[in-house]
Amino acid sequence: MRVAVYSTKPYDEEFLTAANLAHRHHLSFLEPRLSLDTVPLAAGAEAVCAFVNDDLSAGVLDGLAGLGVRRVALRSAGFNHVDLQAAARLGISVTRVPGYSPHAVAEHCAALVLALNRRTHRAYNRVREGNFALTGLLGFDLFGKTVGIVGTGRIGSCFARIMIGFGCRVVANDPYPNEECRAMGVEYVPLEPLLAQSDIVSLHLPLTPQTYHFIEAERLGSMRDGVMLINTSRGMLIDTAAAINALKQGKLGYLGLDVYEEEADLFFEDLSDQVLHDDIFSRLLTFPNVLITGHQAFFTREAMTNIAATTIDNLTAAEHGAALNKVTVDDVAR
Ligand code: NAI
Repeated sequence: MRVAVYSTKPYDEEFLTAANLAHRHHLSFLEPRLSLDTVPLAAGAEAVCAFVNDDLSAGVLDGLAGLGVRRVALRSAGFNHVDLQAAARLGISVTRVPGYSPHAVAEHCAALVLALNRRTHRAYNRVREGNFALTGLLGFDLFGKTVGIVGTGRIGSCFARIMIGFGCRVVANDPYPNEECRAMGVEYVPLEPLLAQSDIVSLHLPLTPQTYHFIEAERLGSMRDGVMLINTSRGMLIDTAAAINALKQGKLGYLGLDVYEEEADLFFEDLSDQVLHDDIFSRLLTFPNVLITGHQAFFTREAMTNIAATTIDNLTAAEHGAALNKVTVDDVAR
């Protein structure tokens, strides 16, 4: 199958090429992101392969269908950026990579918690400058603290296991409680007590129309003073302006983000020579207790190998009419 691979970085090409050796699809590696402007690059392809910040809204899908594209193979778990109704109307099948390495994301989450707590990001810079003072680096024991996990699917349950390993009490909220989590000692509670009791709140639910700005001013206000909030799921789960207010008031004591509401214009590119035009993001960077990584939680060798293998398997299955890892409108409701 001829496949136009958008948003290609050298590492995507490396892992996808290796996974494709036995399948022999014709992969065209394209650096640009998928958008209305770059749709014509898919001319001649039956499928496009897209990543998290590619635009798969109705207009783009219309354009792709007009070129004869019949399949979209996402190389991500999240599919919030795809207009699934438009895809169904146009007869375009959409596949994703549901669980390539929940460990990668959960372990990155733990890295954010540890770095924020023990101020590793600040200590690193201090020591390099010959400053060995400890003032401002005071942390807290994780042992005995309460961690609130919202969404205990693949990643949330891995993160629960890690935090239980530190001796934390883990409370969780999920409309579909996970028996494995219960067995390891996770207590399921409604959202309100979770927010009120937790020293650390970590988001592992998907972005859907219902979960847009899931954490906003009121919910921030109901959290413990000085709480640590971690988001490795999707940026739009948090109202960033409200989070900035909570940081200014000291309500939020720590904020760890691997995703950001407007990340599509920033992440995955080297913009170090440019002026940032996003004032909200720039404000976030001024806080000593905010740690941001650029959507790298998934980025381990194991995860990249699994993403590439499943993406290529999905394309091969689709070519043979099978529905492997297909996403439909019904999945949004779950
Ligand atoms: P999953 O589908 O296995 O688990 C999501 C869980 O959230 C499910 O158990 C679901 O019942 C629950 N949920 C849905 N709505 C909820 C609500 N309103 N309140 C509480 N729980 C709710 O998904 P998985 O694989 O654990 O991924 C979680 C999210 O992490 C993905 O949606 C994706 O956006 C993000 N992600 C981020 C990555 C990164 O590199 N930063 C990499 C991979 C995924």
